[in-house]
Amino acid sequence: MEIQRTTDPEKINFKDKFYLTGKAVIISGGMGLIGKAFAEACLQFGAKVVIADIDKTNPEKYAEDLKKKTGREVAGVSMNVAKRKDVELLKKITLEKYGSIDGLINCHQNKTARFFANFDEFTDEDWDAIVETNLKGTFLTCQIIGGYMAEKGSGSIINMPSTYSVVAPNQNLYKGTTLGTPAAYSASKGGVMALSQYLATYWADKGVRVNQITPHGVWNNHEEAFEKNFSNFSPMQRMSYNHEVACAAVYLLSDASSYVTGDNLRVDGGWTAW
Ligand SMILES: NC(=O)c1ccc[n+]([C@@H]2O[C@H](COP(=O)([O-])OP(=O)(O)OC[C@H]3O[C@@H](n4cnc5c(N)ncnc54)[C@H](O)[C@@H]3O)[C@@H](O)[C@H]2O)c1
Repeated sequence: MEIQRTTDPEKINFKDKFYLTGKAVIISGGMGLIGKAFAEACLQFGAKVVIADIDKTNPEKYAEDLKKKTGREVAGVSMNVAKRKDVELLKKITLEKYGSIDGLINCHQNKTARFFANFDEFTDEDWDAIVETNLKGTFLTCQIIGGYMAEKGSGSIINMPSTYSVVAPNQNLYKGTTLGTPAAYSASKGGVMALSQYLATYWADKGVRVNQITPHGVWNNHEEAFEKNFSNFSPMQRMSYNHEVACAAVYLLSDASSYVTGDNLRVDGGWTAW
């Protein structure tokens, strides 16, 4: 992308900068609550999208149905982000299909069966499974797909840490509910933050921007007690919606954010502002 050297804003078509027309975007964990909103938003802004997720979510069928319904360019790939050969295959399939990869959103997370167990009872197996998917999966996609972007000289990567790698969870939020946040989640997401910052400067002169989006309290039919507690603690007094997070992704993937790298865009209703 050529950056215009000018002080005259009238020479700039600001609207066009937000479009993703012609860009191919991979969304890992694309079958999740936020991933589906990312896919829809990217498609509406003209991107070609690959939805990557684990086999049992059947991203191929979801993408095929979406394609039939809308006529837009979308494909699904079953894969595991924590397996090098799967990520290599994802890159290969995307390049064969779209000829380029311009955007990558790492939107996967592993919610194991015993995800909400107390810290004292947390097992090695659950710890390993969460760190492996959340952190190693992000390392692999960044190395393999980000490395390709660095070679071609352009690309935008969005990683997803968590409010609970920015601040600690307030345990009062979970009182009277069955929910919680495991330390393995916070720790793995802290690693995602550090990795993202590292790569932002590592690839800054290669045309690859690496940013983060930190969503918070995205509503998914939560139990009433949790929603009530959350609203009491939130400066905006409500939970957020997946489409509110997706708007941030369009900005960070687009040329509108051409000078933004190493940032963490917190879509958290002011939760971490005080
Ligand atoms: N929902 C929130 O309120 C919230 C808040 C802060 C951060 N986040 C982060 O945002 C991202 C998206 O959140 P979400 O609510 O949509 O999560 P989600 O659980 O709905 O979706 C995660 C997706 O990742 C997929 N996945 C799991 N293991 C995988 C693997 N090994 N390989 C490929 N895909 C795999 C799952 O199948 C699922 O479709 C996550 O990284 C999450 O940690 C979410």
